[in-house]
Amino acid sequence: MKQFFAAVAAVVASAHLPRVDAQFQQACAALASRLTIPNTTIASTSFVAAGTNLTFPTVDASCDTPSQVVSSDICRVVLTVATSSRSSTAVEVWLPSNWTGRFLSTGNGGIGGCIQYPDVDYGSSLGFATTGSDNGHTGQNGTLFLNNIEVVTDFSWRSLVTSAVVGKQITHEFYGKPHHKSYYFGCSTGGRQGWKMAQDFPDVFDGVVAGAPVFDWDNLMSWGGMFFPIIVKAGPDGYPPPSTWPVIDAELLKQCDDIDGAVDGILEDPSLCNFRPETIICSPGDNSSSCITAKQAETVRALFQPLVVNGTSLYPARQYGPGFVAIIFEVFSSSQFFIMDNWYRFAVFNDPTFDTSDLTPEQIIFATNLNPANINTWSGNLAKFRDYGAKILHYHGQQDEQVSSANSNRYYELVSQTMGLPSSALDEFYRFFRISGMMHCGGGPGATFIGNAEASVASLDPDENVLMAMVRWIEEGIAPETITGTAFVNQTQVLGVDFKRAHCRYPYRNVYTGKGDVKDPASWKCIV
Ligand SMILES: *[C@@H]1O[C@H](CO)[C@@H](O)[C@H](O)[C@H]1NC(C)=O
Ligand SMILES: *[C@@H]1O[C@H](CO)[C@@H](O)[C@H](O)[C@H]1NC(C)=O
Ligand SMILES: *[C@@H]1O[C@H](CO)[C@@H](O)[C@H](O)[C@H]1NC(C)=O
Ligand SMILES: *[C@@H]1O[C@H](CO)[C@@H](O)[C@H](O)[C@H]1NC(C)=O
Ligand SMILES: *[C@@H]1O[C@H](CO)[C@@H](O)[C@H](O)[C@H]1NC(C)=O
Ligand SMILES: *[C@@H]1O[C@H](CO)[C@@H](O)[C@H](O)[C@H]1NC(C)=O
Ligand SMILES: *[C@@H]1O[C@H](CO)[C@@H](O)[C@H](O)[C@H]1NC(C)=O
Repeated sequence: MKQFFAAVAAVVASAHLPRVDAQFQQACAALASRLTIPNTTIASTSFVAAGTNLTFPTVDASCDTPSQVVSSDICRVVLTVATSSRSSTAVEVWLPSNWTGRFLSTGNGGIGGCIQYPDVDYGSSLGFATTGSDNGHTGQNGTLFLNNIEVVTDFSWRSLVTSAVVGKQITHEFYGKPHHKSYYFGCSTGGRQGWKMAQDFPDVFDGVVAGAPVFDWDNLMSWGGMFFPIIVKAGPDGYPPPSTWPVIDAELLKQCDDIDGAVDGILEDPSLCNFRPETIICSPGDNSSSCITAKQAETVRALFQPLVVNGTSLYPARQYGPGFVAIIFEVFSSSQFFIMDNWYRFAVFNDPTFDTSDLTPEQIIFATNLNPANINTWSGNLAKFRDYGAKILHYHGQQDEQVSSANSNRYYELVSQTMGLPSSALDEFYRFFRISGMMHCGGGPGATFIGNAEASVASLDPDENVLMAMVRWIEEGIAPETITGTAFVNQTQVLGVDFKRAHCRYPYRNVYTGKGDVKDPASWKCIV
């Protein structure tokens, strides 16, 4: 293999790319026979040319990844690793012909179960040898957790660690030398996985990019269970009707949009917004489409409460965001939160008929204490990660409609308190960026294109791309001061750039200076 690598290097130097392709293809085809990795079954190693539209007929439909157009020439390795006698994980390793010497693992989403092919393609297109795994079970539900803690363990951490270890071995074997730096990126469940590595497996990755993390998982699940009973108890008249949703949003912006100095429909720091829905309670004679009842105002308040059990706050309230009253109704009016329901049934109580419609305090405490496979991911001690020399870039959309973005602020404070470190010291290895106007992992009216997914790349400049920012931090020692995001006209890339904004790192917050165009990043500054 070392010989192969030397030959490729020589040919690249003389730029005879077709010969590279031939050698690369042969090396890829031959790779399968050379891989003997314990507990691992190699299904195939195959060359895939840039532009190929791969289809995945055997991947579960719930994964919503029927096909993927491959952006660069790769050697695609498909394999399965047994993680115990009754669990396994499906893994893909995409080895680009134009390798940078970097290794990348990608994460998962929701309660899946799915290799995120767009992420694997994104990494390999940037020259990373890139892995993705199905996180130990197929599809977007938790049924395989039932009476099988091994599958839960894969979901908590083991599938990622296993696929990273195997992926690094395959990378080494294929290119004839080991990677020089390893990276991870993921959002949501992928964000939690990234934090799991920083907390408990500090030497697997040099650089971790973790977005909108669903950490404090056990309590997050129970918090997610709050909204269905709130709507049920409110009754048909108790939830604000759709005709009032624009009125509520307008009032929210009236009360909170200018806290950051700019009236632009985007809350830079929603933690400063103390929305009072009582201001739009109807007076006698008011048109009922332009106001809400006292009972409806009470319901709105309930939607923005923390999860409190027996006087203890277990998970923070949602931060206010335009559209949330509508979204909560759409998601929770007819059924309980699916991921929570699956988690409680299959991982906590091992009872497929368990009723999650209105969790009791005892059930919530039981789940928290059980913490299956230590999925909670809530340790504030990152000393080993720091001492290893690793770094983590954490981001969270401030208009996250699914996970309370306040929980990321809370975690940052936990680390600061646990390690006894001020922000200036945390900055050495841990930086947290609040992305205003970003919904759960993407979308929303803000400058949300920060390169955290293939579909949200406006630039590969490390100042504007979280993955490349991490590469620069690790390899050049230049830490990101801000992350500049891009907003496109009508959130549509082909319509062109609308504006950019430099998102500040916590505890700084972004404010408009009052001078210059609000759409110009230079008109803003980060203040504490
Ligand atoms: C890739 O193939 C699938 C299945 O044939 C098809 O649905 C999809 O549109 C194709 N994608 C592109 C970009 O052509
Ligand atoms: C292979 O799997 C077995 C059974 O799950 C386990 O005991 C063993 O440690 C694994 N071997 C390696 C090298 O991971
Ligand atoms: C290989 O990657 C480098 C940067 O990583 C890029 O400049 C170059 O154009 C790429 N070459 C090919 C043939 O894709
Ligand atoms: C869970 O997902 C698996 C794989 O997609 C599927 O076969 C099974 O029917 C699903 N179970 C339920 C209860 O939805
Ligand atoms: C109440 O307001 C709605 C929306 O502005 C409007 O369509 C409707 O005609 C109004 N009803 C009355 C009775 O004024
Ligand atoms: C709530 O607190 C009371 C008094 O300390 C205690 O008896 C009870 O068990 C607690 N309930 C839960 C669910 O922890
Ligand atoms: C953007 O959306 C608005 C409202 O839907 C529409 O009026 C406008 O024409 C759109 N702009 C472009 C460039 O498509």
